[in-house]
Amino acid sequence: MSVEQTAPPQGPAHVAIIMDGNGRWAQMRGRPRLFGHHAGARRVREMVEACPALGVKYLTIFAFSTENWKRTQTEVAGLMTLFRRYIVREARDLLARGVRVRFIGDRIRLDEKLVTLMDELELMTSGNDRVHLTIALNYGGRDEVTRAARRLAYEIEMGRLTHRDVDAETLARFLDTHVLPDPDLVIRTSGEARISNFLLWQSAYAEYEFVDTLWPDFTAAEFGRIVRAYAARDRRFGTVRA
Ligand code: FPP
Repeated sequence: MSVEQTAPPQGPAHVAIIMDGNGRWAQMRGRPRLFGHHAGARRVREMVEACPALGVKYLTIFAFSTENWKRTQTEVAGLMTLFRRYIVREARDLLARGVRVRFIGDRIRLDEKLVTLMDELELMTSGNDRVHLTIALNYGGRDEVTRAARRLAYEIEMGRLTHRDVDAETLARFLDTHVLPDPDLVIRTSGEARISNFLLWQSAYAEYEFVDTLWPDFTAAEFGRIVRAYAARDRRFGTVRA
């Protein structure tokens, strides 16, 4: 592609966020960790609201990982209650704001009542298209790829596919994210530079941004600065500069 043909810098259409630092934020205030998670939940709304003006069509957030079950029973139960309340409290507003909500992750270990609320919210917002909010709940990248491989193996066992059909495109059709584009930008808060099993397959060519801010302190203004800075980056997807 010549310089003249190069498209103008574009913002990320899909941003994924690892919302880290709730526990430390609460502990710094001498409060229980769940206090931080509640403060973190309030930030979610702010980021969703910021998306349209920033040109972000897809926002994917890491709410609970397959490893988070190892936390204390009090914290896990508190988080599950928070997710249920979040859905009940925010559903109407999300619907009115044109947000389409999806959940990714394995639902098998989740409480039946929570799964029903998740299903209802997905159905209720399925006609929306302004912002696509995907919430990763009991999600792990390796777990997702493993589940996809298992389903693919089943299709082969049933004779509906053969081993020759197994390529990256076919496998991706079995991922939880099969209807979503890959993330362009992954942000992690709280100063940790790890991806923690988040969207492993999908982030193969994503840009990463690690910021020191703890999630409950992360503002729409900081989000906007990161999104705008992304447009200046040179993404080559393994090719060379034109
Ligand atoms: C990581 O912080 C955060 C989590 C494991 C939970 C993320 C959940 C929320 C932001 C709550 C709400 C989300 C929704 C969708 C309602 P941490 O506890 O690991 O923090 P630490 O590293 O400081 O201990």
